[in-house]
Amino acid sequence: MDRKPVPYRKTVFVCTHARADGRVSCGNPGRGGVELCAALKEGVKRLGLKGKVRVARAGCLDLCEKGPNAFLYPNGEWLSGLAPADAAGLLKTLAD
Ligand code: FES
Repeated sequence: MDRKPVPYRKTVFVCTHARADGRVSCGNPGRGGVELCAALKEGVKRLGLKGKVRVARAGCLDLCEKGPNAFLYPNGEWLSGLAPADAAGLLKTLAD
């Protein structure tokens, strides 16, 4: 095992989990998790944050009804009820 410091200043983990069985999921069509994640990834590139900020797709974070959900590291913030339109505000937080 190789241990080293986290290479990113900030990371946002965005739930993009989808289910085909009809249960509510952040990544299901119309829920916005996948679109939010894509908007964040595009914004990180556009703002020159690549290599400093990481946008990571996450599996189910177990609060599906409140989603789309995400959490920020190392901020320690949990975000629920997100929409793709929240990307701009989140990018400001990630760039700080
Ligand atoms: S599917 Fe996103 S929290 Fe469960």
